[in-house]
Amino acid sequence: MKHIAFASILVAIVAALLIVGTRVFPLLPGPATSTQGLMVDALFRWEMYFIAFFFALVVVVTLYAIVAFRRRLGDTGEGHFTRGNMPLEVLWTVIPFIILMSFAGVAAYDLNKMGEPAPDELIVEVTAFQFAFKFHYPQYSVDSTELDVPVGRPIVFRITSLDVVHAFWVPEWRVQQDAVPGTWNDLRITPVQVGDYTVRCNELCGDGHSFMTAPVKVLAPADFDAWVAAQKAPVTPATGAALVAQGQKLAQSSGCLACHTTDGSKSVGPTWKGLYGSEVKLTTGQNVLADATYLHNSIVNPGAQIVAGFQNIMPASYSTLSDADLNALVAYIESLK
Ligand code: CUA
Repeated sequence: MKHIAFASILVAIVAALLIVGTRVFPLLPGPATSTQGLMVDALFRWEMYFIAFFFALVVVVTLYAIVAFRRRLGDTGEGHFTRGNMPLEVLWTVIPFIILMSFAGVAAYDLNKMGEPAPDELIVEVTAFQFAFKFHYPQYSVDSTELDVPVGRPIVFRITSLDVVHAFWVPEWRVQQDAVPGTWNDLRITPVQVGDYTVRCNELCGDGHSFMTAPVKVLAPADFDAWVAAQKAPVTPATGAALVAQGQKLAQSSGCLACHTTDGSKSVGPTWKGLYGSEVKLTTGQNVLADATYLHNSIVNPGAQIVAGFQNIMPASYSTLSDADLNALVAYIESLK
């Protein structure tokens, strides 16, 4: 009886320390900032509490028994023989079963709740491709490479891919969805906190996978309306330095820089530094001048002229860029002397 009381106190202390530990050193990347994420975190927190308790129960009791019931000096007798304990075995089967089924029940309820359509949802169509994301807002006829959304409004993301399987994931929103070519998958999110986040591709999709990100801005509703209005305002085509700056931004948001460097170093694809106006040697042995036409063609039809020393791996998805975007990209490459 003395042993049971003492071991119980030890288990309680270790379990309490572990539970405090999970609060002091959180295992998740920052607090959840979506309704769905808060549900995930609540469930995760309770699972950690139970795991902490059962870890303490098993490990502390084992270590306690090893120390308290060790063979003492001069003790040559046999240990006490036990042939099972039915009530105990029933108990340690039934209790974990009830706990696990309870968690499964809560998880199923949450999962169902997360996928429930809400009235007045904001629809955002997400197109993933190697190695970037594009966002289309059908209710507003707006296209963007940055994901701007209002806080507090339920959003349904309709997600697809142009080439291979990617995944749409904002870590602070917790839940993610696959982007699969030829089909649309839904993901429902209600952001609860204004701030800057990042969409990350969470499916290994090729050389540029780790660079496949897009900026996310969760805005106050009025700021979101202003952003939509700004997107819809007619834009006068940029020229000169503004066009170069636009091209640089596009190179980042479209994933170009995942494979092309701007400092002359070799990467998956040819560097852009000093490319414009240079003679490029192709795999056919032919030399071509890297002028605006060559750069334009190499973006929209990358397989046509392969530079010697490189593989034909650039995705063809950039043919969907607008002429204005292509001009900006070429102007940016031209500026990298
Ligand atoms: Cu797209 Cu990883």
